[in-house]
Amino acid sequence: MKIFCEIMQERIQKILENTKLVNAVHEDFTHTFRQLGLSNFHAKKLSRNVLWLLGENKPLKHVETKILGMLERTRVRQKNGKTLTLPQILQEKLSNRADLIFSQIAPHLKGVSGKVLDFGCGDGQVTHLISEKLGLDVEGIDVKHYPASHVNVPIRLFDGKRVYAKPGTFSAAVITNVLHHEKENELILKELKRLKIKKLVIIETVPVGKTPKEILLDRERTFMNDHLYNRLFHSADIPVPGTYETAKGWVSRFKKIGYKVSHSQDLGFDQPTIRDSHHLLVFELMKKAK
Ligand SMILES: C[S@@+](CC[C@H](N)C(=O)[O-])C[C@H]1O[C@@H](n2cnc3c(N)ncnc32)[C@H](O)[C@@H]1O
Repeated sequence: MKIFCEIMQERIQKILENTKLVNAVHEDFTHTFRQLGLSNFHAKKLSRNVLWLLGENKPLKHVETKILGMLERTRVRQKNGKTLTLPQILQEKLSNRADLIFSQIAPHLKGVSGKVLDFGCGDGQVTHLISEKLGLDVEGIDVKHYPASHVNVPIRLFDGKRVYAKPGTFSAAVITNVLHHEKENELILKELKRLKIKKLVIIETVPVGKTPKEILLDRERTFMNDHLYNRLFHSADIPVPGTYETAKGWVSRFKKIGYKVSHSQDLGFDQPTIRDSHHLLVFELMKKAK
């Protein structure tokens, strides 16, 4: 059986054979590096070098480590006179990311009473904001345990199969940028169905386009940005299976497990550093599924 690194590498190689995609990805990476403070000239050059290294015929982990080294050697002087590496600058911008996600989901958690589950909570920064700013009884679960140091809400390690709780335990769940990180995300949907959570507030990275062909291309462009963000900027070994779905696709999959959509919002390229399109979906458990 192929390990996930081999699968990701094959996908990258295929993308690199498509000139249209390479140009789009080069533009996206250039945008990211410019956002981190590089000049247009240096951002373009770095983007070219990253793509060139990704094409190397070496194991992906080796290539990724080499690219991380290159990003760490690229430094930008900040307004306060300090010089930071690109991964350090991105890290600083990540706290703004949690604030942005919180501002997007918070209006949909108004009126919720009872326990809230943050499914795939990551470092727990969003979970923390839900507790602190909305006063909700929230806890996070994730297949990896890496809460940020200031997070003081319960965060549990999840085995990826069965949540510890009985059906009806949670009134609402928040699932932000998780579903496309799970190779078999149908398992998550199955578990959500079992838990009978009344309301789901979801943000997903989605491919967009006017035709199926455009959507297919955008899926691969999205995968490259996801890979840059989740793997090239650090060595945390986060799987990027890129199991994206369009917003319409999610609506129909959630319908099959008893949820109807009550809010659907295109968030566009809402995060300044990475050019991935996001979509906000709110689902309510249908009466007959209760
Ligand atoms: C990009 S992070 C998002 C974290 C957080 N929700 C946020 O928006 O900041 C994706 C997270 O999904 C988690 N994840 C992937 N598959 C999962 C699964 N089957 N169950 C729970 N968490 C999962 C990963 O470990 C990772 O922490």
